Amino acid sequence: MNVFIAGGTSGIGYALARHYLEKGYDVGICGRNLAKISENNLENVKTFQTDVCDMNAIATAVHTFLTGGQNLDIFINCAGSYAEDVAGKISYEEAEEMLQTNILGTVNCFETARKVMKGQKKGSIAVIASVSGILDYENSSLYTKTKRSVIQIADAYRRALKPFGISVTTIVPGYVDTEKLRQLNNNDLHKKPFLTDVETAVIHISEAIEKQKKRVIFPAKMKWMMKSLSVLPSFLLNTIMFRKAQWMKDDQP
Ligand SMILES: NC(=O)c1ccc[n+]([C@@H]2O[C@H](COP(=O)([O-])OP(=O)(O)OC[C@H]3O[C@@H](n4cnc5c(N)ncnc54)[C@H](OP(=O)(O)O)[C@@H]3O)[C@@H](O)[C@H]2O)c1
Repeated sequence: MNVFIAGGTSGIGYALARHYLEKGYDVGICGRNLAKISENNLENVKTFQTDVCDMNAIATAVHTFLTGGQNLDIFINCAGSYAEDVAGKISYEEAEEMLQTNILGTVNCFETARKVMKGQKKGSIAVIASVSGILDYENSSLYTKTKRSVIQIADAYRRALKPFGISVTTIVPGYVDTEKLRQLNNNDLHKKPFLTDVETAVIHISEAIEKQKKRVIFPAKMKWMMKSLSVLPSFLLNTIMFRKAQWMKDDQP
C-alpha cells in the first residue's frame, strides 16, 4: 500500500506517517521544512520538500514517490496553517499563508490525487478540516472560515470522484495535543476542551479512511456539543461564541 501525506513533517501528519510505516506501508511525506523530520528520527519514509501551494511541485513529489507506476492508495492532506486569531492579532502575512495553504493547498492536493487515482479507478483521499468549521456563525475567525471552506471543497470532490471509485473522507478534529497547538498557547492547553492525544487522533483518522467514511468528527463529546450548538438560533449562537472568544482572550498578553 502506498500512502502520501502532505504536511507530514510534524504533528498529526507525522504521527499518521509513523502509524502507516508501522503497518509496513510505503509512505511518502512532504512539507516545507524537512529538518523537522530528522529531529523526529522517522526512518524508511520518502521525504519531499514541497509546498502544497505549488501545484507543480506537489504533483512532481507524488509522481516521484510512485516510481514504477505503482498505485496511490491513500492521500492525506494534513498541511494546514493556523494561528491564535481570536484576539484579533493575526498579521497580514499569517492571513495570507492561512488562505493559501488551507484553501489553495487543499485544492492542489485534491487535483494531484484525483489525477493519479482516476486512472486506477480506486483510492482514498482524506483532508483535515477542523471542528471549528462545522458551525456557521458570523464572528468566527479567518482560520475557522478557511476550515469551513475545506469541508465544502471536500464535499464537492466527494460527489465528483464517487463515479471513479475514489472515496473522500473529511477529518473534523476537535483540539489535538500537538507541538504546534502548544506553541500557540504558551504550552498551556487548559482552555482547550475535550483535548485528544495525537495517538487517539491517528486511530480515529486511519479507521475513518479505511471504512471510507464521508466525515468523522472527534472526540464524541465535541461532536455532540457542536450538534447541540448548531440547532441554536443564530443570535444565540453568535452570543455564545463571542463570549467563548472573550474568555479565551482574557488570559492572553
Ligand atoms: N492540533 C489541533 O488541535 C488541530 C485541530 C483541528 C484541526 N487541525 C488541523 O490539523 C492539521 C495538522 O495540525 P497540527 O496540529 O499537526 O500542526 P503542525 O504540526 O503544524 O502540522 C502542519 C503540517 O503541515 C505542514 N505545512 C504547513 N504549511 C504547509 C505548506 N504550505 N506546504 C506543505 N506543508 C505545509 C507543516 O510542515 P512544514 O512546516 O514543514 O511545512 C506540518 O507538517 C492542520 O491542518 C490543522 O489545521 C489541528
